[in-house]
Amino acid sequence: MNDETLRFYDEQAKGYSEIRARPIQIYTDRLEREAMMPLVAEARDILDLGCGEGRLTRWIAATKRQQGGAFAVHGADFSPEMIVHAEAQNGDLPATYGVGDAMALPFPDNSFDLIVSCTAPNNFPSLDGALDEIRRVLRPGGIFCATIINGEETARFARYLYYSPYYLAQLAKRLVGGASGYHRVLFSRDELASLLRGRFDVMELTGMRVIPDFIPEFPLNIWPPLFPVMNGLVRATEGLDRRLSRHPRAGRHARFHLVIARALK
Ligand SMILES: C[S@@+](CC[C@H](N)C(=O)[O-])C[C@H]1O[C@@H](n2cnc3c(N)ncnc32)[C@H](O)[C@@H]1O
Repeated sequence: MNDETLRFYDEQAKGYSEIRARPIQIYTDRLEREAMMPLVAEARDILDLGCGEGRLTRWIAATKRQQGGAFAVHGADFSPEMIVHAEAQNGDLPATYGVGDAMALPFPDNSFDLIVSCTAPNNFPSLDGALDEIRRVLRPGGIFCATIINGEETARFARYLYYSPYYLAQLAKRLVGGASGYHRVLFSRDELASLLRGRFDVMELTGMRVIPDFIPEFPLNIWPPLFPVMNGLVRATEGLDRRLSRHPRAGRHARFHLVIARALK
């Protein structure tokens, strides 16, 4: 576990749902749900690892409840504050939450059919170690589905270009003693493929969200009066963005990698 990363997310927990309600995040949320829907429909015991304030956990629980039958949905996050916010927003949905570190998952072997983890793997102190844990708690043939922030050079450049005010704000915060130096590793597609090799059978390793990263985040995705403009741009480019994301070359420049992999036991 990394203490500064934990402090960062504990501090973020209160405003995290608000960040997640911005246009680009809503679009990402839509793409993630689309990718996960068939996996969620098939699985019975599901873990949302690094669940944050539970946006996807709630959707998974609602989806399973609608589907009927026996199931269990659990959200785990190493930030106690995130778990407090997830529980507070859960209402009567059939999901449970608990503090849990990806590096030492508090579950017995072979506990889950599906583990989803959205953008959390970039924060793990070692994705290599976390993948061992994920495979351990997955049942044989169980599925790992993740979105992981891309580290290919063009994706990195787009991010620095449009997120630079955010990075400057982070730096300023750090100078006055706030938590901002959190641990985050970006992975290229080849790095992910090699980490998964031998432990998982890769079913899908594609891009997700190429175009919105080149639409200025500041202020379009930050200032609420401009959200309709941002939403319009996202909608207008949505079809092309989906095609580019799946394209073997263009997809390399997406903001996220989408990983769907089956555990080899
Ligand atoms: C970028 S947020 C994503 C939250 C959520 N998955 C979502 O998509 O809304 C990353 C989350 O991973 C959690 N996290 C980071 N390192 C972790 C670890 N080692 N074990 C468990 N959770 C971790 C953070 O506390 C944070 O809530």
